[in-house]
Amino acid sequence: MIIWVAGSPGVGKSTVGRRLARSISFEFIDLPKLLTTEGLVESYDEVRDAWTVNPKEVSKLIPRRVRGDCVLSSHFVAPVKGAAVKCIVLRLNPLALTTRLKRRGYSSLKTAENVEAEFLGVVYSEAVSSLGRRRVFQLDTSGKKVEHIVDRCVKIVKGFDEGDRVDWLTQLPEDELEKLLSFIAKYRGRGL
Ligand SMILES: Nc1ncnc2c1ncn2[C@@H]1O[C@H](COP(=O)(O)OP(=O)(O)OP(=O)(O)O)[C@@H](O)[C@H]1O
Ligand SMILES: [Mg+2]
Repeated sequence: MIIWVAGSPGVGKSTVGRRLARSISFEFIDLPKLLTTEGLVESYDEVRDAWTVNPKEVSKLIPRRVRGDCVLSSHFVAPVKGAAVKCIVLRLNPLALTTRLKRRGYSSLKTAENVEAEFLGVVYSEAVSSLGRRRVFQLDTSGKKVEHIVDRCVKIVKGFDEGDRVDWLTQLPEDELEKLLSFIAKYRGRGL
């Protein structure tokens, strides 16, 4: 079985994925690293300061590289044939994500683009379109310790937890929403 831990950059996929794999005795694969070693990272986008990958290459790589039970982590999700897959999309309050990405040294543009994607649930939508709604779960990790998140992931894997419904537009307090939207509007799409 494949457990695919997905989410926006910086939400904690590698941290959670690695610990989840250890706790359920699955192999752990950090997909962006595997794609790099396999030479499958396509091109570098200078404006976005990001590497691009071809989802078709990801779909081809997984059956070739993943044999037994495995936890994958990546910010992209691609269709997978011939294997049982459950995808857990980690979500994080976009303002908390802003702080985390700035601390990483991301530019304001890169931070704003990623935070906007988190706000809109882009990774969740992509996961649902690749794998179907019944195989995709969400977890709100805001303010939660890694151990707690891993415990809930284990419950999702075992079928005891349905995950969370996440919609930042309706769930964020008004003042946080205003702060977030003005940050996104200030930097998004201006190449700053
Ligand atoms: N639940 C958490 N609470 C606080 N900090 C966390 C939590 N989970 C992860 N972090 C921290 O957030 C940072 C990003 O974590 P991590 O590298 O696991 O994210 P990622 O989603 O794999 O990022 P990327 O998209 O770049 O691969 C790390 O400094 C990590 O220690
Ligand atoms: Mg990672």
